[in-house]
Amino acid sequence: MPQEQELHGGHINAPVLVDGTVRRTPTPRSPYIRRLLDHYAAHRWPGAPRHLGTDARGRETLTFIRGLVPWEYDERVAADDSLTALTRLVRTAHDLTAGHELAGSGEVVCHNDLTYRNTVYHDRSGQLLPTALIDWDLAAPGRRIHDIAHLCWQFLHLGPTCDPHWAAHRIRHVADAYGLPREDRADLVPTVLWWQNRSREGIEQGAASGNPALTDLCRRGVPQHIRAAQEWTTTHSEELSALL
Ligand SMILES: Nc1ncnc2c1ncn2[C@@H]1O[C@H](COP(=O)(O)OP(=O)(O)O)[C@@H](O)[C@H]1O
Ligand SMILES: [Mg+2]
Repeated sequence: MPQEQELHGGHINAPVLVDGTVRRTPTPRSPYIRRLLDHYAAHRWPGAPRHLGTDARGRETLTFIRGLVPWEYDERVAADDSLTALTRLVRTAHDLTAGHELAGSGEVVCHNDLTYRNTVYHDRSGQLLPTALIDWDLAAPGRRIHDIAHLCWQFLHLGPTCDPHWAAHRIRHVADAYGLPREDRADLVPTVLWWQNRSREGIEQGAASGNPALTDLCRRGVPQHIRAAQEWTTTHSEELSALL
């Protein structure tokens, strides 16, 4: 019997490592996610895990991507080169799905959970450079700006510990590195607020209907933490948008 090793850094699916591959419990959305990962594989894009099949216990088997996944926020993920490489990864993921049937009536397929805990990095002389995006469970058709706003919220750690002037420069850097169209930029900070609201409500509603993973997030104070980030973003929204 191969040994199963717990993988840290996730709160929802609790995947394990077996024989050098990742095993995840399937969800109703797994067939769509599998088609998406197969689409990236067909384009030889190395920025996402490969779907390898289903194991004897009915779990999905994915390639394990070697590198470093920060479980806790590490400010190096907001450094210039790191953010530039990240936005290029996201841009490629989006461009590969633009106009494809996987994107349905959306502009592209969005990852919808872009955060450092779902990003594999390489440590290059102390610099963290992203190489792949993992945890595609929430991927769905959407607008490019949805992922860019989520990315800004998470990788810049927008919230009470953040300097709004610094954050405004970083947001501009992300928008430029991605090539976000001028006409979309005014929507960026409102979309961060939309995500914060949606995420908090999703956790609270899921916990209220008995979902154990979301109940655990509530027990650890995550909704209050998101609410504080939301209040901070509202207070500073003008300054955060000023350079866009
Ligand atoms: N394909 C993969 N390659 C490398 N590490 C992975 C991979 N899949 C998961 N992990 C590790 O397991 C952790 C939890 O996996 P994730 O898919 O994010 O689950 P959850 O849905 O619980 O957030 C990640 O933060 C990462 O450290
Ligand atoms: Mg995750």
